Formats: sequence, structure tokens, C-alpha cells
Amino acid sequence: MSVVTIAREGKIAVVTIDNPPVNALGQAVRQGLSEAVSTLDSDPEVTAVVLICAGRTFIAGADVSEFDKPPQPPHLPDVVSAIELAAKPWIAAIHGSALGGGFEVALGCRFRLATADASVGLPEVTLGLVPGAGGTVRTPRLVGIEAAVDLVTTGKPVRGPRALELGLIDRIVEGDLRADAVAFAQDLPDELPVPLSLRPAPTVPETFWGNAETIIAKRVKRETAPLRALACLRRATEVDFASAMAFERTTFLDLRASKQAAALRHVFFAERAAPRPAALAGIETRPLRNAAVIGGGTMGAGIAAALRDAGLPVILIERDDAAVERGLANLKAIFDGAVKRGRLTEAAAEARLAGVTGSTDYGALADTDLVIEAVFEELSVKRQVFDELGRVCRADAVLATNTSYLDPRSIAEGLPRPGRFIGLHFFSPANIMKLLEIVPTPETDAATLATGFALARLLGKVPVRAGICEGFIGNRILKHYRAEAEALVRQGVAIRDVDAAMRAFGFAMGPFEAQDLGGLDIAFLQREGARAAGLDVSETLGDILVRAGRKGQKTGGGWYDYEAGDRRPLPSQDVDQLLRDHIKPGSALDAAAIADRLVGAMAREGEAILAEGTAERPSDIDLVEIHGYGFPRWRGGPMFCTSAGT
Ligand code: NAI
Repeated sequence: MSVVTIAREGKIAVVTIDNPPVNALGQAVRQGLSEAVSTLDSDPEVTAVVLICAGRTFIAGADVSEFDKPPQPPHLPDVVSAIELAAKPWIAAIHGSALGGGFEVALGCRFRLATADASVGLPEVTLGLVPGAGGTVRTPRLVGIEAAVDLVTTGKPVRGPRALELGLIDRIVEGDLRADAVAFAQDLPDELPVPLSLRPAPTVPETFWGNAETIIAKRVKRETAPLRALACLRRATEVDFASAMAFERTTFLDLRASKQAAALRHVFFAERAAPRPAALAGIETRPLRNAAVIGGGTMGAGIAAALRDAGLPVILIERDDAAVERGLANLKAIFDGAVKRGRLTEAAAEARLAGVTGSTDYGALADTDLVIEAVFEELSVKRQVFDELGRVCRADAVLATNTSYLDPRSIAEGLPRPGRFIGLHFFSPANIMKLLEIVPTPETDAATLATGFALARLLGKVPVRAGICEGFIGNRILKHYRAEAEALVRQGVAIRDVDAAMRAFGFAMGPFEAQDLGGLDIAFLQREGARAAGLDVSETLGDILVRAGRKGQKTGGGWYDYEAGDRRPLPSQDVDQLLRDHIKPGSALDAAAIADRLVGAMAREGEAILAEGTAERPSDIDLVEIHGYGFPRWRGGPMFCTSAGT
């Protein structure tokens, strides 16, 4: 069956795209639309055309399977032009999302009707691109320059009511979309809106561009697509329609071939593959109707918040009543913070909190589907918790640990039915950070593993399966990253040069600044623990600082000094003094060489992790670094950006 079909409702033609799963604009769809324009233009019975999509969404964007192939005709800009200049007016009837090329097709229509929960947008910059079929040229002609800049340079979709307010759509349809669109088409005004390509571009004061550029450059740092998109928008207001279209197309094709776009495509595909591992296809998951968290500290509260955000009722278990109160207060602080930042309404925050029951009684967990343990990082404490859980929980409940470094096999020792046990390693703050390392033990059964992935989907996390080793994937690479940073300092590179180089590379913070923020003592205590257990752990420069009382910002100094109430790192003479005997004087490296060394160290450890099967594929390691450790997305991750040919 054809992916584009035409039906008639009296004098109205209804063109339906049916190209599951998301009606992507593949070649067959473009061809079908093109042919529909000619067919309907030559049909004297037809007065107007409704364009609608079958399934769950309007055209959700380009066909990702065509991403790396040369474009096949008909090209989208021509299809959009054909629709726009058709003799019969086309009306887009939008449900789900009209994104990228999908929204550009809608821009070619004379009217855009949408359901209230639909969203429209031009997310191309998130793939390192600009819109390629008139998005930057038609949008300012439709809604003015400010809304266009926002839409195109952030890539963020806009929902129905806001889209209506901005003028991106003409009407919100409350009833049946198809019936309402046909009724709308039967009753068009005598004077139709002028096609966007024939409208004048808005006049924009010169100062606007400088300001916009400053704001965007600050936000995106070295990511190129948003500023190139701004340049397209500017051109669209300065030259005629056809020249602006040509400029946009050239920019699009240029960016499509760029390294950043390749990196962002790589991450896009990695993220799509991550939540549904092929090995788990068809495996039934356990129910996830409610959950419990043991321990309401930093991680427990964050995990409970994430579970509440996904709508699950949560029981929070703590050691005693005072600790329950503290745990609930931690949760309240998270939701209050979300209200302050405008992410939640007060009412929603209250409802989130109301869905959490604090308790000291494990008996409350008799009907809990999923329990996540986040108590102190001590084997004996964790064992006790799982003893209790083994006694009270349902046989099919999934029991998980959030341990960072302990061996999950030891934690699960003695647990009845160990098939239901798994490691679920969240990252701090757990309600924000997208990464979830999923760590099965050899005994974890497939249903439990599949449920871990299902949980990630439910929470909107990016799941990565990790094998058991110290630090799993992420913290293990972090250790090597930090060791390499120290190696540079030992060979004479200035601490601040290392940090500056990694910021220039695209991290929000360098390795030493990040340690000062998080505290140097956590890793120190862990090394001390290993030493106490008789392991040969060599002294790090960080250890020397911690022994001198420099644990980071919280003690007024770590790798840097800090003035009271100020988070700006200041080079420290005390540190120079403390480390003097360990540093060779005066060797400098340029920023690119420093970044090469540090990213190279990450990738080398990544290779080792792959070789021993702790990670399944290089792209999983990239996802870990991007979603757990702030690696710049547009670089594609350490494995991608150090692999040959990129
Ligand atoms: P935390 O010290 O902030 O919280 C631990 C909480 O567990 C405390 O509120 C304590 O009262 C409670 N607790 C202790 N024993 C308990 C018991 N028997 N029953 C019930 N509650 C008990 O520690 P944090 O940072 O939240 O870490 C928790 C776990 O998460 C550790 O295993 C840690 O390694 C892991 N983790 C920590 C990350 C971090 O960035 N802090 C990141 C990922 C994992």
C-alpha cells in the first residue's frame, strides 16, 4: 500500500500519510506528497486539501535511515514549495509532533490546525544541523524574528497553546481532528493568507543580531549549528526568498558533512539503541506500579524524586524517625527547588511529596514492586538491608542496589531468590542526571534485567548495561581521567591550564575544579579503605591535599583557594608548596594537547572495558560519559571522538 493516500469528503481531499512508526519524511513520502499536489491541482472537483497523518503523530521529522545517504529526489524544499504554491489550499491537521521537516511541510500549508497536546518545532540544531527546507526562511515570515530565533536556535518544541499564542499554528482543535479539519476546509475565508514565500520578511534592527549572537554564543559555547542557524535567519531578513533558501540549503549541506553533526548523529543513534537491547526483546518485565527507596540521603532522596516524577507512589525507609524526617525534608527541598526554577507548580510539588510515605518499618514493603537501596556505602549495612528485604518483599519484587563501588555479588550473598537482584547505579542529582548504569550479577534473571531497562524508560533515563568491576564503567573511567590529569600536573603543567583546556574542550568544568566542587575526600576515603584492606594503592596528589585538610570548596580550598562565599577558583600557593616535591618544574602544553591526553586516557580505559566485556559497545561508553560526566555531546563521547576517521 502507498504511504500517501488520497480520500474525498465531498469537495475536500484528505491526504493521509501512513508511514509507521512516526511518518518520517522518507523518499516515498516526499514522492507521494509531490504526486498528490499534481493530482489534486488537476482535479476540478477539489476545492481544498487536508493533510493528516495516520498513527500516533504527524510527520515527526526526517527519515533517520537516510541520514548518512546522499539525498534522493524529490527534495524536501521542492515538495514544500509545491504544496505552498498549489492551486488548491492545503491545510495541515497536526497531532503528536510536527518536527523538523514535518513542521516545514506544515509551513508550506496555508493553515495549521493542531490538537492541544500536539507540539511543533525545528530541532535540527540538536543534530548539528539547521533546518533544510525553509524553516529559517518561512518561520520569521510567519511569527516574527524573536519567536523564530528561539524556535530555530534552541531546537525546543513548542506545545499547542503556546504555539497558538506565538502564531505557529492557527487553531487548536478540541474535537475529532480529521472531521474538524474537513469542516474548516469546507468553510475557508474568501481571502486566503498569502503563502509565506510571497510575504515580506520582517524588518529587524541591526542591534538585534549582535545581542542574539552574544546570548547564543554564551549558551552553546563551541557548538556551531545554533550560530549558523542564526546566520540563516539573519540572511532570511536581508535578501529575497529564493536567495535565503539557497543560503539555508548550502548551510544545511555544509553542516551535514561536519564533524559535530556526525558526533550528534552518533549520540542520537546510541540513545535510540540504548533503552531496548536486542538481547532482551520479547522478555516480559516485572510490574512497576510502585517503588520503595531505602535511605533518604543525597541519592535516596534524588531517586525517590525521580520515581515520583514518573508517577510511582514511593515508600521511603530510614533508620529512625529523625532520619525519616530528614529524608522527607531532602525530598521537599528537591521539589521546592523545581518550583523555584519554574519546572513544577506548587500544587504539583505538593502532590509529588504527598505520594511519598516515610517509614522505619520494612513491613510496609510487603506489596512493593521495586526496592532501590541507597544506604551508606558499607557492605555490612547493605547486607542487613537485603536481609530484611529478603524476608518481607514479594518473591517477584525487583531488589536493587545503588552502590558505586561495592561488588553487587557480595551485597546479594544469602538473598533468597537472587534472580530478582540487580545493580541500578544512578548519578547525582539522581532526579536530573540521565544516566542509569544497569549492573546485573551472574544470577540476575532476564525478567529483572528487562525490568531495569523498563524502569529507565519510565524515568526518562539513558540506560547502559555494565559488567561488575570496580567503579563499573563511569567511575572507573573517571579514575583514569583524574590520574592522567595528575600525571600532567606532575610533569609540570599548571593545574589551571588543565582545567582551562577541558573547559575549552567543552566540559562545564575541568577535572580539578570538579573535584573541588564534589569534595576530594570521597575518593580519598575509598583509597584509604583499599589500603586498609591491604591493597597497594599509590599516593595521589589529591591524597596529599586531603591530608593537609584541603578537601575542596567545603573546606575553603582543595586544588584551588576560595574566598568565603565565592566559588571562583584561585591558584593556590599552598598547593604549590604542598606538591612541590612531586612536580617537575615548568613544562607547558597547549590546550589541545592537554585535552588529547585526557580524552585519550578515557578512551584507553574504555577499550580495556570493552575488551573484558564490562561494556557491550563503544557507544555505551560514550553515553556514560555524556549523560553521567558532562562530556560535551557534540564531541560524540570519548570513544567516538578518538576513533579513526573522525
Ligand atoms: P548519604 O550518606 O547521603 O545517605 C545515606 C542514607 O542512608 C542516610 O540518610 C542514612 O540515614 C541512610 N541509612 C543508613 N543505614 C540505613 C539503614 N540500615 N536503613 C535505612 N537507611 C539507612 O549517602 P549517598 O551519597 O546518598 O549514597 C548512598 C549510596 O549511593 C551509596 O552506596 C553510594 O555509594 C551510592 N552513590 C552515591 C553517589 C553520590 O554521588 N553521592 C552516586 C551514586 C551512587
